[in-house]
Amino acid sequence: MTIIRPAELSVSTSVDTDPMTHAAVPITVARGDGIGPEIMDACLAVFAAAGAQIKAEVHDIGLSAYKRGHAGGLTPDAWASLERTRVLFKAPVATPQGSGMKSLNVTLRKSFGLFANVRPCVSYHPFVATLHPAMDVVIVRENEEDVYAGIEHRQTNDVVQCLKLITRPGCERIVRYAFGYAKAHGRKRVTCFTKDNIMKLSDGLFHQVFNEVAKEFPEITADHMIVDIGAARLAASPERFDVIVMPNLYGDILSDVAAEIAGSVGLAGSANIGLDVAMFEAVHGTAPDIAGKDIANPSGLLLAGVQMLQHLGQGAVAERIHNAWLRTIEDGIHTADIYTGGVSAACVGTKAFTDAVIARLGQPPRKLKPAHHGGTPVAVVEAPAKPRQHKAFVGIDIFVDAPMTLPGTLAKQVNAVDSGDLGLTMITNRGLAVWPASLPHANLADHWRCRFQAAPGTTGDPKSAAQLVGRLMGAGLDVIKTEHLYTFDGVPGFSVGQGQ
Ligand code: NAI
Repeated sequence: MTIIRPAELSVSTSVDTDPMTHAAVPITVARGDGIGPEIMDACLAVFAAAGAQIKAEVHDIGLSAYKRGHAGGLTPDAWASLERTRVLFKAPVATPQGSGMKSLNVTLRKSFGLFANVRPCVSYHPFVATLHPAMDVVIVRENEEDVYAGIEHRQTNDVVQCLKLITRPGCERIVRYAFGYAKAHGRKRVTCFTKDNIMKLSDGLFHQVFNEVAKEFPEITADHMIVDIGAARLAASPERFDVIVMPNLYGDILSDVAAEIAGSVGLAGSANIGLDVAMFEAVHGTAPDIAGKDIANPSGLLLAGVQMLQHLGQGAVAERIHNAWLRTIEDGIHTADIYTGGVSAACVGTKAFTDAVIARLGQPPRKLKPAHHGGTPVAVVEAPAKPRQHKAFVGIDIFVDAPMTLPGTLAKQVNAVDSGDLGLTMITNRGLAVWPASLPHANLADHWRCRFQAAPGTTGDPKSAAQLVGRLMGAGLDVIKTEHLYTFDGVPGFSVGQGQ
């Protein structure tokens, strides 16, 4: 076996086993920190032996780059390489504590628009312990939007807010990717998880786009579940799911749950897909406790590499590697993290495991389901442009900080101010309508929303709404924020108050 020991900059792992298939594709490689270099070398060795047509440009990415003052963990050379190759194969990286240091993953995700996180969660029963022997789920998580914009404000003494941003193009990209993934991988069903019974506009948009895009894939069954019951069913009977697509926060949580219940967080790989850049990595971290000991399991990174090879259109090589790996697992050749007495045949180190996979190239598994990656890569499609809808201003929500008051008292104060062509229609406290309806038992915070609306069927003037804000402040009210109310082609673009 040849272990590729990447030198400082450029190493080719190309092997001319089948010169008809592909020219070597340049990729950027990060050997990472902790166990990163050991498991990356293992993967590059397997790729070379399997005939992957890739040319690895190995760069300084991670701790060493941070130490040299690059706050995002990438040197300019690494950045330029990624701009050129558009594919990053990344071993885990440690983010140093300290001000000014930015997580490499966040930097990459945001800078290169990596909108989809794709994590296959598969159980390898009976060779790896799991409560769910038939689990084979792929979680497709939206990666850029939702509450992860990090837009948070403290608005009153008692209240902080976090903005949840969901865009139609963002929903279209991720949902179309999920269906495209299902089609390319011969999967039969895509399930969408949202909480649109509560977040009717934001999660409602995700669900609506899901329904629209599903029509373009009539050969795939599409269904939707509210995320709480969906999560419960995923945890209890994951074998009933195939591909699940969801917004960022639910996907963040449930992709870890799914990997854990498969029994294989250490075996899971993940792909981060953008419109023209993609990054592939293991789910686990740098495992500093076992670094340099030749005992780390390279499987998570290797399976991420399988995803990468398929992304590069080298599905046949991906399949060869994946099947050799499955055969190794069912032959009981296990690293210490998954070794089980009575099930495993041998407890091996990183290098011996790598040798075992290479020795099985060309051999399909006998008991586990063989992998198929021969299809076309998943199409990454930008959302088609939609005509802009007519936006009309119909009112304003004015939020005020008012401690120790009551809804009726606040309404009197607000109604004493000239509100022009808008009228006070509702006051809410933490979203709950408390005026004009009376809710004497509701818990109240110091954070109120006063909704002013134009008469039904008419529009208002945002400039006079701005003057209203000034007048309310002049009357001693502590205005902390405003939100305009619009209709789009006549459809309200705002939710009603809870209980309204
Ligand atoms: P970890 O995943 O590195 O380790 C958790 C436990 O799992 C440890 O006991 C470790 O020995 C074991 N483990 C992990 N991978 C293994 C493997 N391949 N083979 C055998 N055992 C393995 O998580 P932890 O300790 O929370 O994080 C350590 C460092 O990794 C931190 O600096 C963190 O920021 C970084 N990290 C980086 C990630 C990335 O680059 N994508 C993801 C997660 C963490």
